[in-house]
Parts: sequence; C-alpha cells; structure tokens
Amino acid sequence: MENFTFYNPTKLIFGDNQLEQLKTEIPSYGQKVLLVYGGGSIKRSGLYDRVISNLNEINAEIFELSGVEPNPRLTTVHKGVEICKSEGIEFLLAVGGGSVIDCTKAIAAGAKYDGDAWDLVTKKALPQDALPLGTVLTLAATGSEMNAGSVITNWETNEKYGWGSPLVFPKFSILEPKNTVTVPKDHTIYGMVDMMAHVLEQYFHNSTNTVLQDRLCESVLQTVIEVGPSLMDNLEDVSLRETILYSGTIALNGMLQMGYRGDWATHNIEHAVSAVYDIPHAGGLAILFPNWMKHNLKVNPARFAQLAKRVFNVSPEGKTDEEIGLEGIEALRTFWSSLGAPTRLVEYDIDDSQLDVMAEKTVVNGDFGNFNPLNKEDVLAILRASL
Ligand code: NZQ
Ligand code: ZN
Repeated sequence: MENFTFYNPTKLIFGDNQLEQLKTEIPSYGQKVLLVYGGGSIKRSGLYDRVISNLNEINAEIFELSGVEPNPRLTTVHKGVEICKSEGIEFLLAVGGGSVIDCTKAIAAGAKYDGDAWDLVTKKALPQDALPLGTVLTLAATGSEMNAGSVITNWETNEKYGWGSPLVFPKFSILEPKNTVTVPKDHTIYGMVDMMAHVLEQYFHNSTNTVLQDRLCESVLQTVIEVGPSLMDNLEDVSLRETILYSGTIALNGMLQMGYRGDWATHNIEHAVSAVYDIPHAGGLAILFPNWMKHNLKVNPARFAQLAKRVFNVSPEGKTDEEIGLEGIEALRTFWSSLGAPTRLVEYDIDDSQLDVMAEKTVVNGDFGNFNPLNKEDVLAILRASL
C-alpha cells in the first residue's frame, strides 16, 4: 500500500433520538442559523418541526433556504450565498439527502469567497475559508454526511462537477435511522447502488498489499447484498434502514480508501450523463458500472475474479480469471436488477444523439480514472454499451 494520512474531523452522531444533540452542537458556532432543505420531504415526515423545535430551544435565529433540487444547482447555491452574506449567517444546517448536503457545502465555502462559487466547483479558485456546517441526514447513499466532497450542477452550461475541501467537512452529522424510513422505493434502491458503486470505485486500484482494505470493501458490499432484498420488502423496518444507513457512511468517509487511490471514472461519466439529462445519480451508475467493468476486465482479471469469488460466490472451477470476473459482473448486474435498478439508458429516454457531448464533458481535463485511464473513445464505447 501507499503511504497515507487519514483525516476526518466529522463528529458522527448515530442512532435513535439523537436530534436533540443539535442543542449541544450548534451554540458554540453561533446564533444565526441557515436551515437548508429540499423539496418538502422533511415537512411531510415531521422532521422539519422537530428540527425547528430544537433550534427554538437554543434561541437560534433561523433563516431558511428550501427547494434544493436533486442534483443541486448552482443557482440555488447562489441564493444561499446571498442569504449568508446579507444576513451574517454563522452556521449552516443541512437537513436532507446528499443533494442538500452538497449544496450546503458549496454555500459554506461560497459565503467566504468574493467571486462566484462556481470558481470553487471548477477549481479555478481554492476555498480559503468556509462557514461551519452540520447535517441531519435523511437518505442513505452518498456519504456526503461524513466526507469533504460536494457535487454541483450548472444547468446553464450543462456541467456537473465534484469538488472538495477539508474546510467543508460537516462539523457533525446526525443520523437517525428512522428519518430514512420515508425514503421511497426508487431512492432506496438508488442509495444502495450508490454506496456499492462507491466501494467498487475504490476496489479497483493499482496498489499492492491492500489485504485489509480489500476485505473491508468486500464486507460493505456483502452487507448491502445481504440486507438490501429484505429492505425492498420492508421499507419501514428501522433495523434494516439502520444497517444500510451505516453502510452508506462507511462506504465513502475515507475509511476504506487508505493506502491507495480508487478509480472514480464511472462517477465522472455519470456526472456527465446527469449534466445533460438530469437523471438520478445512481440510476446512471447502475447502468454504467457493469459496462465500465467489462471494458476494463482485461486490465487486471485477477482483481475482478477476486471480487466475483468473494462477494458473489462465483465458483472458480475450470475457469480463467477473466471468465470468473465476467460472471461476477453479471452477478452484480443481476443483483441491482433484482432490486429494481435500471439497466439501460433508454429507460431514461436517452438515445445516441448526445453521446459525443457527454463523452467530451468527461475529458475536459484529459484522460481520467486511476485504475485504467480512459480517453474519449473509451467513454464512447462504455456509453454505447449502455444504450
Ligand atoms: O428534496 P426532498 O423533498 O427532500 O426529496 C428528496 C429527493 O427528491 C428525497 N428524499 C430525501 N430524503 C427523504 C426523501 N424522501 C422521503 N423521505 C426522506 N427521508 O429523495 C430525493 C433524492 O434526494 P438526493 O439528496 O438528491 O439524493 P442523494 O442523497 O442520492 O444525493 C444525490 C446527489 O449527491 C451527489 C450526486 O451526484 C447527486 O447530485 N453525490 C455526492 C457525493 C458526495 N458529496 O460525496 C458522492 C456521490 O457519488 C454523488 O455524486
Ligand atoms: Zn455516487
């Protein structure tokens, strides 16, 4: 493995009836709180009222930014930055899924930046400061609750990019499993696909001697495979939600990726697809990932075979590593399909008319992906296989 430094300052507050900890966590950061949330799910579930009541108990001065879109948009970041600057906001509280949290991170950094927050997303400028933020997570998927990443879409230019800074690690994240029981079936599926995809992005790397890391990754995948089908039949089961919620956080809080660099090419390709078609992030991943795997199977067949044997129980007898690996890829596709995830872009009415545009967006900074750097032709091949 490679040398590494692990740093993750987010205080993870996990379990039943933990929301009250807002009252102990927030006051040290300030009184003026901007509450950021999405399209209304937190109002329907009653979480909004519980948050407001906790904030009232500490006499917080509450400002609100609602309507954060799935695939959060730069225009909403701008609105948040404007509120922060004009009202002198001291703390940001994101209540929602990954989109709300990502938007809040961009607002936090944008509020301390003189130019357009888009400069930070496109890495034209590096954040030098950020307002502190905390989160109350309502959807198990992205890991944004315990990482320093954020993904923002500029709908005017059809660009969607990930960016990150240690300055936007949430100060704390409150994860009550019961807050996720209202997540509808489709987003529950997407969430599980997303966390598995995060593990897979990390699993495909070129470092050696990652014995423990491999086993950690495999156990997160096995956990979702074990629990996911039951959750599909019992969406309100808090214990099953609890396991999936914890899995999503572990999948992308840096714990798995110590000592090597993950690949992340499939995420880049998916971000380009969502930038043009605004589809759910993990709907895109479910379609693309098996095709990325097939495209790269020959790079290191033994690695694909290891995944197939250990996670999907593929029998190796009489088969080459490539054959075993391919069976593993098919097993992954079958598992995601059994949950109800999409398999082809046509399910989102995506045809071949914009393939070149999407491929072009993935290579704006040149070849990408660490396991096997991809060029535009590679991307086109993966997209065509996904139609
Ligand atoms: O907007 P509301 O009304 O809250 O509804 C949301 C939204 O429609 C709903 N929802 C959330 N919690 C709910 C709920 N509905 C009922 N009950 C609840 N408890 O679910 C819908 C989707 O929410 P969203 O936040 O968009 O989903 P997710 O958490 O999957 O986030 C997706 C975004 O995260 C980015 C993606 O690209 C996408 O933009 N990612 C962020 C990452 C990161 N920061 O580390 C990594 C990921 O790979 C990903 O790229
Ligand atoms: Zn993802």
